[in-house]
Amino acid sequence: MHLLGIETSCDETAAAVVKDARTVLSNVVYSQIPLHQAYGGVVPEIASRSHLEKIDGIIEQALQDAHVTYDQLDGIAVTYGPGLASSLIVGLSAAKGLAMRLKKPLIGINHLEAHIHSVFLKPDAPDPHEACPMLALVVSGGHTCWIDIPKPGEYHIMGQTLDDAAGEAFDKAAKLLGLGYPGGPVVDKAAKEAKTLASIAFPKGRPRAGNPALGAMEAEMCVSFSGLKTALMYHLKDHPATPEDIPEIASSYQEAIVSALVDRCAFALSKKNYKALAVGGGVSLNRRLRERLTELAAQHNTRLLLAEPKHCGDNAAMIAGLAGMGFGVTGDAAFLLDVVPSLEIGKTK
Ligand code: KG4
Ligand code: ZN
Repeated sequence: MHLLGIETSCDETAAAVVKDARTVLSNVVYSQIPLHQAYGGVVPEIASRSHLEKIDGIIEQALQDAHVTYDQLDGIAVTYGPGLASSLIVGLSAAKGLAMRLKKPLIGINHLEAHIHSVFLKPDAPDPHEACPMLALVVSGGHTCWIDIPKPGEYHIMGQTLDDAAGEAFDKAAKLLGLGYPGGPVVDKAAKEAKTLASIAFPKGRPRAGNPALGAMEAEMCVSFSGLKTALMYHLKDHPATPEDIPEIASSYQEAIVSALVDRCAFALSKKNYKALAVGGGVSLNRRLRERLTELAAQHNTRLLLAEPKHCGDNAAMIAGLAGMGFGVTGDAAFLLDVVPSLEIGKTK
């Protein structure tokens, strides 16, 4: 089965063709990073206009790279949430139009669930059914959450960030340190040059007890990163940084985020026997996070599943892949879908 995937939830215009849920025949990603760099973050109007300009060419390229014709497609899968409304609408409209014209099925996909599926696009990954029960961590620029997955397609949110996402915390630090945008890769790179791991004590990302945002979630499974960037701001006020100080600051800050993420995974792994720990999203590219997760998985005798670097950030292969598993909104309901900017994991609206 050949599915075309379309993804425009944020600042990447992406299209891909995936065969049988896991074999990626093409994966085209046009990153708008240079367009947003001057502003230090994604500007929704610029993102949406750029998606509109690029989407047709990117879809065409994905089919060409895959050596698949429109006729050979068995359906079109598209992200309808979560993300920026004005960006999502471009991909969803393009997918609806194409599916109607070609008279092919349309499948609406939840972007966060697709980030989890990205680990199964790696050729040596186990079958998703064999990897369950699985603990998943989605860490990106907009999301940080832990999910218990007893079987493919069933999601129970165990915890999440109560304020900033991990990627956002990296991006804000890079801005404060004058390192540019996006922040994750530059903080990661600067931290590599540090002589010590954590010479500066930054807050550990623990939510305050009794925080109403916890709801029914356990505090041990949630994080709060907004205090971290404030601590960095005060640190820089008290100790104006010279270029030589940057690696130590970057490493200490990174260690605080990574420790918070790894500690929550450790807590979940100590509560239940998970066959696998799957980690997806842009922040899963972080070198130190990968190191710490590898150690943790070995301690718990759990298989660590990480996506290939090209499938960690936003891409459309994960969208077509998850649809290929038989998940997502299908049939007439798909053609009636509207974008859902705050769509949660495990929900359809
Ligand atoms: O998944 P993604 O491409 O887009 C969203 O859905 O948000 O994630 C982007 C985020 C950005 O915040 C970026 O700074 C972060 O992933 N990121 C990293 C690294 N590479 C990208 N964070 C930490 N270390 C990295 N090496
Ligand atoms: Zn994403």
